[in-house]
Amino acid sequence: MTDVTMDKIVSLSRRRGFVFPSSEIYGGMGSTYDYGHYGVLTKNNIRSLWFQAMVQERDDIVALDSAIILNPRVWEASGHVGGFTDPLVDCRTCKLRFRADQIDQASCGRRPSKHPGETPDCDLTEARQFNLMFKTQVGALEDESSTAYLRPETAQGIFVNFKNVLQLARRKPPFGIAQVGKSFRNEITPGNFLFRVREFEQMEMEFFVPPADAERWYRYWVDERFNWYLKYGLRESMLRKREHSAEERSHYSSGTTDIEYLYPIGWSELEGVANRGDFDLTQHTQHSGTKLEFVGDDTERYTPYVIEPAVSIERIFVAMLVDAYDEEVVAERERTVLRLHPAIAPVKAAILPLIPRNADMVEKARGLHDELRRQHMVEYDDGGQIGRRYRRQDEIGTPFAFTIDDQTLEDDTVTVRERDSLAQERLPIGGVRGWLEEALERPWRTPKA
Ligand code: GAP
Repeated sequence: MTDVTMDKIVSLSRRRGFVFPSSEIYGGMGSTYDYGHYGVLTKNNIRSLWFQAMVQERDDIVALDSAIILNPRVWEASGHVGGFTDPLVDCRTCKLRFRADQIDQASCGRRPSKHPGETPDCDLTEARQFNLMFKTQVGALEDESSTAYLRPETAQGIFVNFKNVLQLARRKPPFGIAQVGKSFRNEITPGNFLFRVREFEQMEMEFFVPPADAERWYRYWVDERFNWYLKYGLRESMLRKREHSAEERSHYSSGTTDIEYLYPIGWSELEGVANRGDFDLTQHTQHSGTKLEFVGDDTERYTPYVIEPAVSIERIFVAMLVDAYDEEVVAERERTVLRLHPAIAPVKAAILPLIPRNADMVEKARGLHDELRRQHMVEYDDGGQIGRRYRRQDEIGTPFAFTIDDQTLEDDTVTVRERDSLAQERLPIGGVRGWLEEALERPWRTPKA
């Protein structure tokens, strides 16, 4: 079995243009990343499959795109100004800062490295609370009155639009509002590639339900989200549900289950599903003076409870790469292959003229490429030996490759090569489009153990 380390994932992401360290020519910007072509395509697929499952295929969820900078009172009401904090200690000697609750996993800045506080030179301050929200100023004045925040979650933008959606989209509980967008957190200990970053793209859905039904819907969403990961190819043995203990839960939650993935750093949170009760709508009702409740026919009137599945594209992206990464020896040569679900794979098929100098092969290949690209993200590649081109496509996870060769010029058939099995068969060139359509619809299971 391939030993998948975070280093291998980082190296492949870089080598094949999925992800680059940000601002690299200026020495980088700690734990901040830029996405290259294949990274963008993969993220687009993750985002649109999430949206398809959460909005497109349902009658009870609508979409929203709220602002990143909201009225700062939103964050007072939500509890983020007062309580979205980590306890920190500073070392006066090495000038480093550590999370007080993770000090036994941190390394001291001096050599040989020990845990902070373990050397006689360490001089640690008392722990103090550090707010994770990024502050900014809005407008020309730079005083307290112009302070605003970059949103640390997309959820609050949904709660403050509850009344708009209820009235204008004519919804009644149970119904949900889904949103995808950037969130920002000044994480003290970011790291492990994209797993914990300061700028990430959240996909959150707030599902408003009658209080008596909250527990049932909470369990429903845990299962629904768990099954979504199985549908897109993550191995069941690498996933688990972990229910939080009462001490671990956030102040607003009466039940939280993490869907965890076995990342190279160990079992860690991929997605959280929380029963937030009526905390958010009640807080915003009290702070804004606008009643956020459901008023039905007759005398029905209540504050809905909220069930929230929340995840970032980054955590899914890393889990998908880890799950897909494989190494094997084929005909005495090593190959690295990303066994991504075809729906997640950035490129669905490669079109390769066997001999790039042969004008007839190039013309046929270009023609096929033009035909397929109208429906799918496909790639024409005539750079280098065919073996190297196959290996490149394997490393970016392209499930199928169509090769135009001598025989194509005689009988208009092409070879299709499957990424996972390496099986090859010949197809009439006119049937490729239909074949690909059907192949992308087929159920897919990873061949990885
Ligand atoms: N609205 C609830 C909320 O934001 P959270 O557990 O703080 O809850 C939800 O975050 C999800 O967002 C996490 O399960 C994780 O997938 C993702 N996430 C949180 N912090 C992150 C970070 N620093 N980098 C990448 N993803 C992050």
